[in-house]
Amino acid sequence: MTDEELKAKIKEVLMEVGVWSGHREMTLEEIAIIQPGLGLIMPEIGQRTWKLYYAAKEGHWALAKFQWEEIKGLMELGAFTRPKHEEALNQFLREDWPPVGKAIESQDFAAFETAFHRAIEQANAYHELKDKPYIRWKLPSVPPPDLEMKPRGKQ
Ligand code: HEM
Repeated sequence: MTDEELKAKIKEVLMEVGVWSGHREMTLEEIAIIQPGLGLIMPEIGQRTWKLYYAAKEGHWALAKFQWEEIKGLMELGAFTRPKHEEALNQFLREDWPPVGKAIESQDFAAFETAFHRAIEQANAYHELKDKPYIRWKLPSVPPPDLEMKPRGKQ
């Protein structure tokens, strides 16, 4: 058996090894298959983008920063689990997301609004590019109901 054949055999055996998840036994292959793709990650990004906007609008910069970071992390996760979207997601994170982050850092809502709407235009352009022209994210006209948007102490 050559080294390559041995490696392939070990890999084959390892993929079939069962691991206890706390709920059931799964093979490594099954664990790999259930890693979240953009179909699971993007709706979460949409929810957080909604929160990001209204937190910034209320001057709740700590919450806005948190949502901005979480969205970045989710996009990085998507780029890892779905390499076919890696380039587009990284380009968005390189070009469109930092201006939103900078406006949060400088607590400048006017700059935030410009950068935010620009980023959303770009996101929807990526949806089109990715053969999903029917997906156009839009900002809801009301704040999210499940999280306080005002900083503590603000009426
Ligand atoms: C802040 C920016 C973005 C927001 C708010 C956003 C929002 C969304 C939402 C809400 C969906 C799911 C629609 C639904 O099924 O209900 C979606 C899907 C999708 N988005 Fe984004 N998106 C953003 C950026 C991007 C970028 C940069 C890409 C580049 C790859 C991208 C690629 C996709 C793809 C491929 C899907 C379809 C997923 C699937 O179901 O297979 N999005 N997006």
